Amino acid sequence: MPDAEVLIVSNREPYIHNRAPDSNKIEVQIPASGLVAALEPVIRACGGTWIAHGSGSADRETVDANDRLPVPPDNPSYVLRRIWVSDEEQDGFYYGLANEGLWPLCHIAFVRPLFRESDWHYYRAINERFAEAVVHEAKTDDPVVLVQDYHFALAPRMIRQRLPKATIISFWHIPWPNAETFGICPWKEEIIDGLLGSTIVGFHTQFHCNNFFETVDRFIESRIDREHATVTLRGEETLVRAYPISIDWPPKALAGQAPVAECRVAVRRALKLADDIKLVVGIERFDYTKGILDRMKALDDLLTREPQWKHRLVFVQVAAPTRSRLEKYSKLQEEAVALSDDINQRHGDGSYKPIQLIVRHHDQKEVFRLFRAADLCIVSSLHDGMNLVAKEFVAAREDERGVLILSSFTGASRELSEALIVNPYNTREMSEALGTGLRMPDHEQRARMRSMRRQVREWNVYRWAGRMLIDAAGTRRRQQIID
Ligand code: G6P
Repeated sequence: MPDAEVLIVSNREPYIHNRAPDSNKIEVQIPASGLVAALEPVIRACGGTWIAHGSGSADRETVDANDRLPVPPDNPSYVLRRIWVSDEEQDGFYYGLANEGLWPLCHIAFVRPLFRESDWHYYRAINERFAEAVVHEAKTDDPVVLVQDYHFALAPRMIRQRLPKATIISFWHIPWPNAETFGICPWKEEIIDGLLGSTIVGFHTQFHCNNFFETVDRFIESRIDREHATVTLRGEETLVRAYPISIDWPPKALAGQAPVAECRVAVRRALKLADDIKLVVGIERFDYTKGILDRMKALDDLLTREPQWKHRLVFVQVAAPTRSRLEKYSKLQEEAVALSDDINQRHGDGSYKPIQLIVRHHDQKEVFRLFRAADLCIVSSLHDGMNLVAKEFVAAREDERGVLILSSFTGASRELSEALIVNPYNTREMSEALGTGLRMPDHEQRARMRSMRRQVREWNVYRWAGRMLIDAAGTRRRQQIID
């Protein structure tokens, strides 16, 4: 489909315009979102229209009369079409059904999902609004529509009804649970039916595809062909496959970075740390699925068992505030502050604090600089579809040094097997991995990092998108022959 028109549908927009509170100037922010990090280089390369929720305080001022704006701001190559959602709709659609319902339903983090009828009402309405926007923005009757994530499970079917010839590729960026677990969702049939409006439903891992097949089998009257990885519902076929998402290579954030040795010194100076201090970093959204408290407990355990690390190591946790209006998120922030204060009090003294918790959004350049300065990066998600932070850390390390500790409950652990793979629920195991990582000889770091870099370079995000498009073309051809 070389000349196909491409449209992306996602909740999170790639560029957010905000009015700075102090200067009143308009600032552009790139949000902390794995989805945005992965999709943006793809659409920049192929052009098209990205339809997303306009969430910034200056978003309305920066679009034209049709709610469109050319982006990236510095060198436009595609169109961002913003969709407006009222506060009440946002409470039901985004905070409610998507993030208090589907997010905990799909992630095993032992947080009970909340299902409210009113949230479902808004979820359906916003899915309709985005499907309408696709029809409005499409210039052809057979565009390629890339529907992103759990915010839009119903949109594929709605788009299919309006544009029967469209190629609809839905990608579920988070895990898909087993049938038993998914079965508690009051609207399971509608959600599955909505997704099966797609030409392709993609997940990060085969395990999530298997869970999806099992869920379809349990709750929907359809024909499943495991051999060809398809589900046929009312005569229409959907391919269900694993496409592990990735990042662009080389990443845009690497351009203009100082050499690794300079980053090491500069970051330590900025953080007021001695030049020879071992720097451990964790960088992500402040989300309960990320295992932030668990890694702090592991550090606590290490400092208790091996007090010789005191004054020789600092853990910098950068946590970008996210979904803070939800109780689970605000509570996590409070707990993380309390735990880091407690650990600092017990293991610190004078000006030495083993944990620095920095709660603010960092742009990609800052994130990569921190990665380059670090001795060790820790990704201890309790559950994660892929986790692109792990891949970004690897991409940042052109010097082939640095140790990655990675949770076995991330999709990334299937690909980055040379990381130190841990169970984040096992504090002792994670604390031992920290010790091993801090002591790891240079030659071993290099061998592991080299292999992980090869993996991320070869399986980059263009390959992710390319494989889905090739599969979609095949499925469409088969469907035409059947018709
Ligand atoms: C996860 C989701 C994305 C989402 C991102 C940031 O990666 O899969 O869809 O954009 O978190 O969350 P937010 O709610 O801020 O968009």
